[in-house]
Amino acid sequence: MLQRDNRYSARQAAGGDKSRQPSDGFLSVRNLVKRYGSHTALADISLDIRAGELVCLLGPSGCGKTTLLRAIAGLERQDAGAIVLCGRDISHAPPQERDYGILFQSYALFPNLTLAQNVAYGLSGKRAHRRHVQARVEEMLTLVGLAGSADKYPGQISGGQQQRVALARALAPSPSLLLLDEPMSALDARVREHLRIELRALQKRLSITTLMVTHDQEEAMVMADRIAVMNGGVIEQFGTPRELYRQPGSAFIADFVGEANWLPFERIDSHRARVGRHELAVDAALQTGTGKLFVRPEAVRVSAAPAGDRVNAMLADVLDGVFLGRGYRLALRLEGVPGATVHSIVSPETGDALLGPHAASRCWVELPRHAIRAYA
Ligand SMILES: Nc1ncnc2c1ncn2[C@@H]1O[C@H](COP(=O)(O)OP(=O)(O)OP(=O)(O)O)[C@@H](O)[C@H]1O
Ligand SMILES: [Mg+2]
Repeated sequence: MLQRDNRYSARQAAGGDKSRQPSDGFLSVRNLVKRYGSHTALADISLDIRAGELVCLLGPSGCGKTTLLRAIAGLERQDAGAIVLCGRDISHAPPQERDYGILFQSYALFPNLTLAQNVAYGLSGKRAHRRHVQARVEEMLTLVGLAGSADKYPGQISGGQQQRVALARALAPSPSLLLLDEPMSALDARVREHLRIELRALQKRLSITTLMVTHDQEEAMVMADRIAVMNGGVIEQFGTPRELYRQPGSAFIADFVGEANWLPFERIDSHRARVGRHELAVDAALQTGTGKLFVRPEAVRVSAAPAGDRVNAMLADVLDGVFLGRGYRLALRLEGVPGATVHSIVSPETGDALLGPHAASRCWVELPRHAIRAYA
């Protein structure tokens, strides 16, 4: 299967040479397997994370993100495979000896302790000098923008602020690795958007290697250096946000990362496909007899004027338009392609012309040949 071939493998993780020991990864996960009874939650996961990098684990519910994070944290024992942090094999080390800070969805602060005491709690295991602890707590609260709130209790501050305190607590012992499991999903959209930027800036400033679980693809795109997209216990693709968006390795990735238009096709030859009663030219070589063509909404060109002799141009009915401010999102029914609705992001001018009081309900749609990808 095409999907299987595109899966990010241990071989790729090791730089193409399976015999080489993991060395280029600050955190290396090797062939990790985790089963719950007959259910395989992690099937042979390999992942190399570089020092200072923020990597997001992205994927639908139940795909194994939390399980992988918990295995790295030592909160879940793997059935097979190894975990190496800074060259040290921590596969069987207890959690407290693994040198990470962790943050979950819920704030998990002690309600009866002040913010300062909560942050200090992260340092208690280190048997640090009281003076030192106090200085470190102040430093950490300042770092997360809560310098003046040391004596407040968690109940007196907002959810977003509580999560920042939890972050300060996780970072206080200066761990080598930061593990985050949906740290912002309990917050409302506005706070989340703000905290995303703050967290990323802080992570860059401290240069702390971070693995963050999210099922929010926008969050992953905004924050991550690289994204590992998981599906059904495997990593299906590992790459930069740009790579995933522009060269999705499978139909699943294309659909999960960003928005996709799909058109069923039949192959005519390596660079021509039949879609309904149209013949479309595509730059990418068609590998299969049938399948679906993929094109992003922002790549779909729309105009009120006839397309002339342009390639891959066809007539369409405008079904609907949503005003986005910076433009419109149009729903279009392609003529000659039964059942196909295509979405397009167009400029305000084009949208006004098609949807205004003297609107044309028909338009010309062009699918640029370079913007089309094909999947089985
Ligand atoms: N303790 C457990 N016992 C049995 N099955 C489990 C256990 N923990 C997780 N699973 C199963 O393993 C799979 C992966 O779970 P996991 O929590 O890692 O998913 P996830 O990707 O974090 O999902 P979500 O986005 O919903 O948090 C799921 O099918 C889940 O039901
Ligand atoms: Mg989870």
